[in-house]
Amino acid sequence: MPTRLPNAATCLAGLLLAVAPAGAVLAQAAGDDAAMERFVSDLMARMTLSEKIGQLNLLTSSMDVTGPTLRAGYREAIAAGDVGAMFNAYGAKYTRSLQELALEETRLGVPLLFGYDVIHGFRTIFPIPLGEAASWDLEAIERSARVAATEAAAAGLHWTFAPMVDVARDPRWGRIAEGAGEDPWLGSQIAAARVRGFQGDDLAALDTVLACAKHYAAYGAAQAGRDYHAVDISPRTLWEVYLPPFHAALAAGVATFMTAFNELNGVPATANPYLLRDVLQDYWGFEGFVVSDYTAINELVPHGLARDEAQAAELAANAGVHMDMQGETFVKHLPELVQQGRVGQATVDDAVRRILEMKYRIGLFEDPYRYSDEAREDAATYAPAHLAAARDMARRSLVLLKNDGVLPLSDEATSIAVIGPLADSEADMVGSWSAAGEKRDRPLSVLEGIRERVGDDAAVHHARGTSDVIGDDDRAGFSAAIAAAARADVIVAVMGESAGMTGEAASRASLELPGAQPELLMALQRLGKPLVLVLMSGRPLAIDWADENVNAILEAWYPGTEGGHAVADVLFGDYNPSGKLPVTFPREVGQVPIYYNAKNTGRPYDPAGTEQKYRSRYLDVPNTPLYPFGYGLSYTHFAYSDLTLDRDEIEGDETLTVSVRVENTGDYDGTEIVQLYLRDEVGSVTRPVQELRGFRRIELAKGAGETVEFELDAADLAFYRRDMSYGAEAGEFTVLVGGSSADLRGARFRLTEDVTLRPPPPLPFARSASPGGG
Ligand code: NOJ
Repeated sequence: MPTRLPNAATCLAGLLLAVAPAGAVLAQAAGDDAAMERFVSDLMARMTLSEKIGQLNLLTSSMDVTGPTLRAGYREAIAAGDVGAMFNAYGAKYTRSLQELALEETRLGVPLLFGYDVIHGFRTIFPIPLGEAASWDLEAIERSARVAATEAAAAGLHWTFAPMVDVARDPRWGRIAEGAGEDPWLGSQIAAARVRGFQGDDLAALDTVLACAKHYAAYGAAQAGRDYHAVDISPRTLWEVYLPPFHAALAAGVATFMTAFNELNGVPATANPYLLRDVLQDYWGFEGFVVSDYTAINELVPHGLARDEAQAAELAANAGVHMDMQGETFVKHLPELVQQGRVGQATVDDAVRRILEMKYRIGLFEDPYRYSDEAREDAATYAPAHLAAARDMARRSLVLLKNDGVLPLSDEATSIAVIGPLADSEADMVGSWSAAGEKRDRPLSVLEGIRERVGDDAAVHHARGTSDVIGDDDRAGFSAAIAAAARADVIVAVMGESAGMTGEAASRASLELPGAQPELLMALQRLGKPLVLVLMSGRPLAIDWADENVNAILEAWYPGTEGGHAVADVLFGDYNPSGKLPVTFPREVGQVPIYYNAKNTGRPYDPAGTEQKYRSRYLDVPNTPLYPFGYGLSYTHFAYSDLTLDRDEIEGDETLTVSVRVENTGDYDGTEIVQLYLRDEVGSVTRPVQELRGFRRIELAKGAGETVEFELDAADLAFYRRDMSYGAEAGEFTVLVGGSSADLRGARFRLTEDVTLRPPPPLPFARSASPGGG
């Protein structure tokens, strides 16, 4: 038996000196892969099987709760060498204390990796991801992720469980709040921006963390929008809609992947060799590691795929899961499974190597405490620059859904009523998954933001009206709210869903404003005063009554720590809103799933057409959404003209230049998001009526104009063709350009020849279902 080393320093020194000259160790930050391989190989040669399997175990601490609680005593487990990584543990001091356990108590002193759900900020909370996506501002999104990484990495964290890149077309699903919306193309751009923001270009830098693309795969397609429900989609839909953002994250260098809770066409994602081996490892060549979601391996038993947890561990390990989050199936069962030959030693070694390499890359073998730095933590936490970035991002995320001219509020208003259960709720401002961000005091509510903005210039009356948003029909506060509103020149109603009604395990069957809020809104409207609805939600809501009856609607999502300032900035015109919806708002929940890139059908409905029967339509609601994808108003107006293509035909290797003139014809300087969509008129398989393929964010002073150019080539026209090869087909295309998916002007061109970019990807059933116990 090797002797236990006395302390962290000697332990680490022992590790390092035994394998490589000091120079090689120092070179790790510079990405010296050969040195890393030598280091990791030597370390693994010295590890017992149980020490190796310990590296595959990720446990939660008791500091935060993000799933079912399974065990106490994680400290003992760390000291016993049964833990390779911890989550829900943060703070320089706390992570240091746990790291000390690993370093000082275990034989080899392999440092722990610390992960956490740093989803939209760590301390300084930014808008929820769906809100950030509404900015269509990739630089700002990248900046937001970097701020989160900077704060997290100073608090001892190495790894974030983000970005969540699940495409979601069903607003009933609470987790639609965590992603970038319904579009695979926009979602892919945003996935890459977030990975760049979290990881930067140096994993060992002290302002970066490892990112994690989750939840692989197709979690957003949960049946009926109910969380964790089964997913049954065609391979075509999987490749066209759900996989592209994962591939984009991978192409941007994402370090880790997390499996999804759902089954995919009968095989749970956490034991899915097609997803994990055939696609992720073999086809895409992913070299990082895959972590299960929280107890997702254990859940293979209730899924009905495994008879017990031992078999669940076997299936997951053989499918390509490298680390078990919180379920402990690997530590409990892999030793025996390896002995029995049901899981190969090579499979375990491959998983261990991937995890150790990540620890090496971020510099943990050089200094395991380098991220747990109290001084840096103090300086980074709520740094003024971080708060400024959060306010800036929040302003960019707000979407003006309706405005009859009441906004921006006039400085002349001497009395403003701010009404509603969310008007003064600091905790709701930060939304779900708000990590270590303060939920009280620091986040500014909308009421506080308005009060700060108007100072002594206007009286601000506040009443909640109803106490609860979930639906207890509390009307006790109605009369006070109506009295407060009656005294004001203008009413700002702040309503929507509480943060807890969104995110994980927060599906809804209704998309209405919950509780007594619709009634309160109607009562306010009857006062006949200018009425602005500030909507807080983590999903599209069906608010057709409000759309018809209030004067203005501002979608605020959950705008974060600085959200109160940002909302006030927009309400008073200090910032001209520019956000555009990354997701469709239905009129009725019965329209779901409703998304802009749908198919035409053989009997498309034309409301102006002569034939009304036997068409693809509803009897009781229009086909169209309340607010379409890409939609969002500004205080100014943008006029589009002169859509021009530089040619009407391109060959396979040629580029088409599309230009359009955009003029700011209103009274304010403003930012427009100019969107380009494509329609492939005829294909070997049916194509969506339109697909986003480009956008530009342009700032135009009032009266100014700009000619915006886009370049298109065969890659932009490509899709998974009938045989699943990826390429463009010769034929007619329509380019559509405008300020939303429903406000477009078009022009036609032809592609003269087929262009093949990639052979078909592996398809399910084409390969062996499982590599077996090898
Ligand atoms: C379960 C969630 O699905 C996942 O997104 C999260 O990262 C883990 N819990 C850890 O909190």
